[in-house]
Amino acid sequence: MKILLAGGAGFIGSHTAVELLEAGHDVVVVDNYCNSSPRSLERVREITGKDMAVYEADVRDKEAVKNIFDREAVDCVIHFAGLKAVGESVEKPVEYYRNNIDTTLTLLECMKEAGVKRIVFSSSATVYGEENESPYVETMPRGSCSNPYGWTKAMMEQILTDTAHADPDMSVILLRYFNPIGAHESGKIGEDPQGIPNNLMPFVSQTAVGRRDKLTIFGGDYDTPDGTCLRDYIHVMDLANGHLKAVEYAADHKGVEIFNLGTGKPYSVLDIVNTFEKANGVPVPYVIGARRAGDLPSVYADASKAERILGWKTKRDLRDMCVDSWNWQKNNPNGFRDQDQS
Ligand code: NAD
Ligand code: WQD
Repeated sequence: MKILLAGGAGFIGSHTAVELLEAGHDVVVVDNYCNSSPRSLERVREITGKDMAVYEADVRDKEAVKNIFDREAVDCVIHFAGLKAVGESVEKPVEYYRNNIDTTLTLLECMKEAGVKRIVFSSSATVYGEENESPYVETMPRGSCSNPYGWTKAMMEQILTDTAHADPDMSVILLRYFNPIGAHESGKIGEDPQGIPNNLMPFVSQTAVGRRDKLTIFGGDYDTPDGTCLRDYIHVMDLANGHLKAVEYAADHKGVEIFNLGTGKPYSVLDIVNTFEKANGVPVPYVIGARRAGDLPSVYADASKAERILGWKTKRDLRDMCVDSWNWQKNNPNGFRDQDQS
């Protein structure tokens, strides 16, 4: 199949490109690099020894996206293109709604004109909101989100669902990711946030490599076994494999299907710090600070539906996630920027 990855140069997109190329699919990437580097795609070529078509464009630019659909016989779209920083979305809600909703609408319009009927969407566990309790199951209704980023995901799920209802030949697969961390085993690609990381693992690995003095753990007084929050961390290569399974499932599917992509196993912030230190033999200095607004004590998946229907199961454990995150960080202390400057 020929698969268009919108936002394919980013963290999850680049790892998914490796997985799809290695499974023998053709890959087309469109990205404006607003939160990524074209270097990630050069590394994807190095890892796989395979080529892919790459277009630099804003996915909101209908002319540009239409031209890509005219040139490439796309079978399926995976829509990763979006802004994803929770805190920033509170400060710049209009920018988040404009970017995330518009990319989705433009893709759907161009898909309709080109007769492309399959789309896999990067959704998030955040759409379960605070009304539901972990483990989250796909049959639960969406809850209220604590920030505009989360609302964009909930709205895009609704837009995609309505679109599938209007066209019985369409297949829409909503993938709700939990907490993706880790990196490709080669250490050539990984998560490369701009500025101070918002997410835990890049902060941990940047602290270990000396870019940050210390990690602040947000809250040590939650009602959890060690007082720190519980999350469902998933290795990004297991997540990438979930996309491969979803694309192959979509080929013979019509309608809307939701899948949680998580391991189903909750770990605490202290579990992450301790496992990272032990597995990699490096210290991660930390202090326990105040709670972060909007954080829920416990978020983890019931991952049984993806196993039952897609035949997908995670293979990598927390130690693998910590080892691979560190391998990426220590080989690329400044992410892709080292290479950009050379
Ligand atoms: P990322 O920022 O690394 O990747 C997103 C990519 O989309 C980037 O390469 C960026 O340049 C591109 N992009 C954004 N807006 C664009 C536009 N208008 N036109 C063209 N390209 C554009 O993020 P990621 O971690 O790889 O996440 C991928 C998707 O998964 C996002 O939609 C994100 O919201 C979602 N998601 C991520 C997580 C996570 O923790 N990483 C969890 C749940 C959902
Ligand atoms: C994990 C845990 C923090 C940083 C977010 C989005 C979600 C999804 C994934 C993205 C929490 C703690 C963190 C730090 C800390 N989407 N922490 N110190 O908040 O579970 O999920 O990313 O596209 O929608 O909300 O992930 O990595 O920010 O935090 O103690 O410096 O680590 O409190 O318990 P989160 P995270």
